[in-house]
Amino acid sequence: MTKETQLQVEAIKNGSVIDHIPANVGIKVLKLFKMDSTNQRVTVGLNLPSSALGAKDLIKVENTFISEEQANQLALYAPKATVNQIENYEVVKKLTLSLPEHIRGVFKCPNTNCITHGEPVDSSFTVRAKQDDVQLKCKYCEKVFSREIVTECN
Ligand code: CTP
Ligand code: ZN
Repeated sequence: MTKETQLQVEAIKNGSVIDHIPANVGIKVLKLFKMDSTNQRVTVGLNLPSSALGAKDLIKVENTFISEEQANQLALYAPKATVNQIENYEVVKKLTLSLPEHIRGVFKCPNTNCITHGEPVDSSFTVRAKQDDVQLKCKYCEKVFSREIVTECN
C-alpha cells in the first residue's frame, strides 16, 4: 500500500501501473501507448496529490504489459515515472526507465519544413542527454530540439 491511507485509484488484478507521471503529461502517455483506443479497462487519475511531485498523473491498464522499449519512450516524457507490472494483485516487476539512443516513428519532427512531413518515411531522432537536459536530433533535417519542444508539439 502507498503512504496514503486509501488508494486514490482502485487496485488492478493484472496489468500495468504507470505512476509518478508529471501532472498534465498523463494524457500524452495514454496516446503514446495507444491506450486511448484499447478495449482493456483503463483507469486514469489526473492531478492527484503527491508528496514527491505536488501533483501527479497515474494510469492503470488491465491485461497490458509495458515493454522495455515502451518504457524507454516514456522516459522522454516522464523520466521519473515508475512502471509496475501487476500479477494477481501483486507488484511483480518495476521497470527502470532509461533514455533510448534512437527514437523512430514515434514523434513528428517539430521542423515543419522537414522532409519527413511530405514523405512516407518514419521520423528518426538521435537522443543526447547532458544531466537533466535532453535533446533530440532529427536524422533527416539534422536540427536539434529540446525534449520539451518535441513532446509539446506531438
Ligand atoms: N497497484 C495497483 N494495483 C495493485 C498493486 C499495486 O494499482 N494490485 C499500484 C499502487 O497503487 C501503486 C503502484 O501500483 O500506484 C505501485 O505499487 P507499490 O509498489 O505497492 O507502491 P509504492 O511502494 O508506492 O511504489 P513506488 O514507491 O515505486 O511508487
Ligand atoms: Zn526533421
